[in-house]
Amino acid sequence: HPPSLQMQGVPPLRRENCRAKGGAPGFKVAILGAAGGIGQPLSLLMKMNPLVSVLHLYDVVNSPGVTADVSHMDTGAVVRGFLGAPQLENALTGMDIVIIPAGIPRKPGMTRDDLFKINAGIVRTLCEGVAKCCPRAIVNLISNPVNSTVPIAAEVFKKAGTYDPKRLLGVTTLDVVRANTFVAEVLGIDPREVDVPVIGGHSGVTILPLLSQVKPASSFTSEEINYLTNRIQNGGTEVVEAKAGAGSATLSMLNTRRTYSKMQAYAAAKFADACLRGLRGDAGIVECTFVASQVTELPFFATKVRLGRGGAEEIFPIGPLSEYERVGLEKAKNELAGSIDKGVSFIRK
Ligand code: NAD
Ligand code: LMR
Repeated sequence: HPPSLQMQGVPPLRRENCRAKGGAPGFKVAILGAAGGIGQPLSLLMKMNPLVSVLHLYDVVNSPGVTADVSHMDTGAVVRGFLGAPQLENALTGMDIVIIPAGIPRKPGMTRDDLFKINAGIVRTLCEGVAKCCPRAIVNLISNPVNSTVPIAAEVFKKAGTYDPKRLLGVTTLDVVRANTFVAEVLGIDPREVDVPVIGGHSGVTILPLLSQVKPASSFTSEEINYLTNRIQNGGTEVVEAKAGAGSATLSMLNTRRTYSKMQAYAAAKFADACLRGLRGDAGIVECTFVASQVTELPFFATKVRLGRGGAEEIFPIGPLSEYERVGLEKAKNELAGSIDKGVSFIRK
């Protein structure tokens, strides 16, 4: 049994065998970077997710406090905390899903690529741990720059001989969340009724909202298309500037569109929840994610995928584009190619 920061008096071995609501098996989830701006509320939401039976919270600082706090919630998941590199392997052993929001966030004036210097090494080390301790886990990679950290993770897994492209997913859900919100504002409807596919990557012009494919079917003036595309592409910067040095988006990372029952309207971390439902075998779980892909000539690209027991089991084509989107796609691919190469050569060099 792995050493834990909160073993006193808790009988975790018995509780670990408990099954999630409805008799479905519960899944084991680790959050790496659990004490951070995203990590803390994400830990809270994973503790509330009925599909999670064991929750491991790992960070290099403050994970004992976050663990003690979250573990007092009277929901099913057993929570254990892990602090610092010597406990990484115990944090990862046996996990079904590993969510990685570890690393530094932007300050005003920075691009996501400015985070590469520090976050690339953090992601490499954490993924080496995943390869060693839970090579079959589905990895949700949040740390920026996602366009480079996903290729870094892929190279680490290739080196270790554990790479399964379907199980490595860059989290781009926030781009879809923003697109739904901003499009709904323009259309004057409820954002919960809107679905905007956002493809490409997770930075600047690589974020390509497909306004021609919005559901419900809608038409936009060219002024609206320009406004919406720019706002969606710069949504992260809008938050970074408004927070004025106090970090980047954390709360909007935690999507609230799903409810689990009429009685309990849980907020959920949407993408992790979609992965969990896929693992459970639910049908028709479709999300946008940055994943190894053949829909373009690039090795990675974000599009809609179908999530299942094996991760991203089906990758959907981009579909018909407007002329504006075709131009945007070329720009996105140019920038993405450089970011992907940068990540790959960080490991290969
Ligand atoms: P934060 O600084 O609040 O938290 C980061 C946490 O990572 C801290 O608790 C820190 O101690 C921890 N950490 C640092 N090095 C670590 C290591 N080696 N192992 C484990 N934990 C480590 O930052 P945040 O606001 O939570 O953002 C985290 C990352 O997520 C940033 O890179 C940010 O740019 C990115 N982000 C991505 C998206 C997205 O949509 N993909 C959205 C928002 C933020
Ligand atoms: C976002 O889109 O909000 C995140 O990638 C954080 C950032 O740096 O913009």
